[in-house]
Amino acid sequence: MDSLPLPFFILLITLFLQTSPSAPDSACKSTCGSLQIKYPFGTSTGCGSPRFQPYVTCSSDKLLLTTHTGSYPITSISYKDSTLTITPPFMSTCSSMQQSPNLGLDWASPFQLGPSVFLLLSCTPPTSSLTINGSPVCDPSSSHLCASFYTCPSVIGLGLPLFPPTNTCCVYSPANFNGKGDLDLRALKCMGYTSIASFQDSPTNPSEWQYGVTLKYMNGAFDEYYMNNNCKTCEDSGGICGYSSPTNSFVCVCNIGFNTTSSCFNNFNPFQDYHEDDQATILSSISSPTCSWKIWLGVLSSLIFCLAA
Ligand SMILES: *[C@@H]1O[C@H](CO)[C@@H](O)[C@H](O)[C@H]1NC(C)=O
Repeated sequence: MDSLPLPFFILLITLFLQTSPSAPDSACKSTCGSLQIKYPFGTSTGCGSPRFQPYVTCSSDKLLLTTHTGSYPITSISYKDSTLTITPPFMSTCSSMQQSPNLGLDWASPFQLGPSVFLLLSCTPPTSSLTINGSPVCDPSSSHLCASFYTCPSVIGLGLPLFPPTNTCCVYSPANFNGKGDLDLRALKCMGYTSIASFQDSPTNPSEWQYGVTLKYMNGAFDEYYMNNNCKTCEDSGGICGYSSPTNSFVCVCNIGFNTTSSCFNNFNPFQDYHEDDQATILSSISSPTCSWKIWLGVLSSLIFCLAA
């Protein structure tokens, strides 16, 4: 180590990082954090479906669903069932209960409530007399879920005693958001809610349940038949489905920095059938000017270390 000082290693590492082949940053990414991202979701503008892009974004490796009531982390996506699960930060769970603001979905968005089970919590008793427009909102046949959930010690977070009376809780079924798309807790005279995405084979043990609001989504941004075929061809060739402004026409974003309307395999040599403009884009992304400043930064930092040593 003495003969090869630290600055020398820094210089070597800098040069190595610079010369190792790194894929050019694709405009669209196939993951966000640990979630696999495929059509109709996208990691930025121009990726996925244009109908989803205003609502779903990838920010600091977190996929977020944004509605008029807030931004909610998306914790899982099932492409097979066309569902996703969000975990609203102020939703109650067995480990933490709290007063919740209304949860809303945007009327024009492609999302609807899915199959998760909503419990309304800390409501004005008795919940059996809760109505919306004259019809009861609670399903009395599932009240055992309230009894189970109310065994969680964190109920005190809702201003309730331990093992509170279950007539302050109910299973909201069928869950139905109001005309503005909101779960309007104030109108229901409840302080909080929880949503159970899965009982994980432990229907009586709320500490094992998986909490989250499951939503269904509808594709339907482009013609389904056209989209299903083109997007599948694109994804099968390693590309990511996206769209281009202003017409929102379909593009297949290929990972070596070019776009096509069909399969990434068809354009194996990106220089072959492209216009001058496209070639310019591709060339400039290969001989990126950021190369040189990174090397100089490395040399400079090594020099500073040498002087300090
Ligand atoms: C390819 O498409 C993506 C997404 O629409 C866009 O952001 C990117 O600029 C396009 N790249 C080229 C080289 O046209």
